[in-house]
Amino acid sequence: MNILVTGGAGYIGSHAVAALKEKGYGVVVVDNLVKGHADAVKGTKLYVGDIGNGELMDKIFSENKIDGVMHFSAFSLVGESMEKPYEYYNNNVCQSMNLFYSMVKHDVKNIVFSSTAATFGEPDEIPISETTPQNPINTYGETKLAMEKMLKWFGVAYGINSICLRYFNVAGAHPSGDIGEDHRPETHLIPIVLQVAAGKREKLSVFGGDYPTKDGTCVRDYIHVSDLAQAHILAMEYMIKNNCSDSFNLGSGGGYSNLEILNAAREVTGKPIPASINERRPGDPPVLIASSEKAERVLGWKREYGIKEIIATAWKWHSTHPQGYRD
Ligand code: UFG
Repeated sequence: MNILVTGGAGYIGSHAVAALKEKGYGVVVVDNLVKGHADAVKGTKLYVGDIGNGELMDKIFSENKIDGVMHFSAFSLVGESMEKPYEYYNNNVCQSMNLFYSMVKHDVKNIVFSSTAATFGEPDEIPISETTPQNPINTYGETKLAMEKMLKWFGVAYGINSICLRYFNVAGAHPSGDIGEDHRPETHLIPIVLQVAAGKREKLSVFGGDYPTKDGTCVRDYIHVSDLAQAHILAMEYMIKNNCSDSFNLGSGGGYSNLEILNAAREVTGKPIPASINERRPGDPPVLIASSEKAERVLGWKREYGIKEIIATAWKWHSTHPQGYRD
């Protein structure tokens, strides 16, 4: 079976490519390399260009027999999305719409779509389940929700099967240490904490210490990027076997506060990691925890990595690649 991975040169996409190859699947990547890194997909067929480019997609779907698409390519920074709604709608929604239409044209019926916890906004219930209402509070979440809805209607009209996976906080790196997270700029907590540990940043600024949580800092639900990649493969297999569409939340069912992450990173790295508590970052919900009960029950998904392993694998990548893919 051959899978087209969009955004396969990005952080999560490259781990999906690795997991697919480890499982013996054929993999083709399309990535415009605006955010991704060609070195993250060494040894894999890579088409460089936009997923919204109909001619390029015609070429890819004609040259390769594609059984399913894993769609990762997107802009994904919440703060940036609030300043650049045009770019976010254009890059995420318009480009994806053209990708979905290319799939229709070439009779490719199955897509696993990378959605997000940000589609839930500030939910009234914790843990967040698949039936929790989706009310995004930022442009990024809105664009992902728009794509979820578009896929639904492409299913009704054109028979496209889709599985939407809404991930919570993804972290960690492939256990080999050969691929990992390299965002520019980096905004996520765990890579920033580890950049402090590696001496690349002076200290961690913890955004907010007065939230209604156990220690006053925000609580997030972390999953390892390789566990997430496995969920994509299980979802693709399930969708093709059952000829169906569905959606799943992917988290761990538990949460860690920002200070707990800091302390776990101090323990894993053996470094002091200086930090201070600063102002809140606008738009941060106090607590986000997912129920993954449905993914476990329906897809048979099991997580392999806990928080220490998440941080340890990320540390292996960061400490051996202080300049990211530039090394
Ligand atoms: N944080 C800090 N200091 C930093 C960076 C982050 O204190 O230097 C805090 C944040 O304020 C937040 C927590 O660490 O409380 C986690 O922040 P991240 O930026 O790592 O992750 P988010 O929870 O903001 O974002 C994640 C995904 C997004 C998704 C969002 C849904 O990365 O893609 O959840 O709310 F949209």
